[in-house]
Amino acid sequence: MAKSQSKTVKKTRTKSKIERAPVEPLVLQPLRGMKDILPTDQPYWDQARRVTERLARDYGFSRIDIPLVEYANLFERSIGEGTDIVEKEMYAFTTKGNDKVVLRPEFTAGICRSYIQHGMSVLAKPVKLFSFGPLYRYDRPQEGRQREFYQADFESFGEIDPILDAQMIQIASRIVQSLGIKSVQIQVNSIGCPVCRKDYRALLVSYLESKKNKLCQDCKRRMYVNPLRVLDCKEDKCAQVAAAAPQSVDHLCDDCRNHFKTLLEYLDELDLPYIINPRLVRGLDYYTKTVFEIWSGSEDGRKSSLGGGGRYDKLIKTMGGEDTPAIGFALGIERLILEMKRVQAKPYKAPKPKVFLAQLGALAKKKSLRLFSEMERNGILVAESFGRGSLKSQLKVANRLGVEITLILGQKETLDGTVIVKNMSTGVQETVSTDKMVDLIKKKLKADNVVVYHS
Ligand code: HAM
Repeated sequence: MAKSQSKTVKKTRTKSKIERAPVEPLVLQPLRGMKDILPTDQPYWDQARRVTERLARDYGFSRIDIPLVEYANLFERSIGEGTDIVEKEMYAFTTKGNDKVVLRPEFTAGICRSYIQHGMSVLAKPVKLFSFGPLYRYDRPQEGRQREFYQADFESFGEIDPILDAQMIQIASRIVQSLGIKSVQIQVNSIGCPVCRKDYRALLVSYLESKKNKLCQDCKRRMYVNPLRVLDCKEDKCAQVAAAAPQSVDHLCDDCRNHFKTLLEYLDELDLPYIINPRLVRGLDYYTKTVFEIWSGSEDGRKSSLGGGGRYDKLIKTMGGEDTPAIGFALGIERLILEMKRVQAKPYKAPKPKVFLAQLGALAKKKSLRLFSEMERNGILVAESFGRGSLKSQLKVANRLGVEITLILGQKETLDGTVIVKNMSTGVQETVSTDKMVDLIKKKLKADNVVVYHS
């Protein structure tokens, strides 16, 4: 009996040990390469959103939002197996349903998937789509390079004419300039179509083979998988090899050469200064013909690419859609904001309330909720401090906010259906009926402080 009792005790002890398994400590910070966007930084983000959305609208782009997670092979087949993004940087995982998925590393492939899936080829061409949101690349974080970052993305489907290439470059440049970043460099290149690139690629590989011992380890492997990528390797020794490499622009077929030549003429017509960078190849496999990037003109030498894009005339067909030429670009929002701060460009300045609503006593407090909402519905921005009881402390807040008018609602006013309107600079007070309050305030305020959201 005693033996069996001791066994029971032992069992219970083991159980309670399992229940008290150590709890992992909370890590009170985001994952490496990810950041909170705090309220203090939001005016820059507001400005970036407002400018990109306005230009998207002005140039006829419709907004599209696509899921954050897609099947992994969507990106493997479009961006390309041999690229850094697909080889090293995808946030990939298998779902409980055994689907191999990734957090989207870019917008283009997802938007193409949506274009095909929803039969957008029947729409009037070009079909212009715009998106804005977060993307994920498991890269080594540094300034301007994060694992979660945002892009404004523009895609245009169904037009082969290089006038569209010029217009896309113009939009990218307009956005950057409208954000107050005046000194940028536009780099353009043409990497040809699959026909002319085949011969160029063979030429490039044979050149690279002759310089093989001067290339970094990555490029020794890359030169067979993705030889064009050797041209934009950041290693000094590879850059030296790349400097003397055959250039794609010298090996374009007639069609690609004319296309590029016409694009440059359009850019001249737009007075958009550009440089032709023969080593600009971009890190994604789907590009054909035009590729371009926008670079910040930082004097301290720490230049970064604010955005980039190009044509991808074969991608929709490769993915199973109709043969559809296309072109697009994306701007990196964090990089734009870093550059805005560096050049001291102005962030968005939200309108501030010029009216404060103060209340005194339980009845007035109740009524003030209704008055606040009435003014909000009429587009009048109002500040309040409903949690405070004393008039003195509420007026202190009103003074700190620098409002023009304070409305004071006490017990007497509530019973009379009136409110005291106090001019904060002259101190003059008048009592008006609450029915007339909205009209009176609108008259007193300058029109720019009245924002009507509701009709
Ligand atoms: P991308 O060159 O990979 O192109 O990215 C465009 C921009 O996104 C870059 O120039 C940079 O400003 C920003 N960016 C990229 N990676 C990061 C990162 N890790 N951290 C912060 N910013 C980053 C594309 O994504 C193509 N889908 C563009 C495109 C659209 N091509 C045709 N249509």
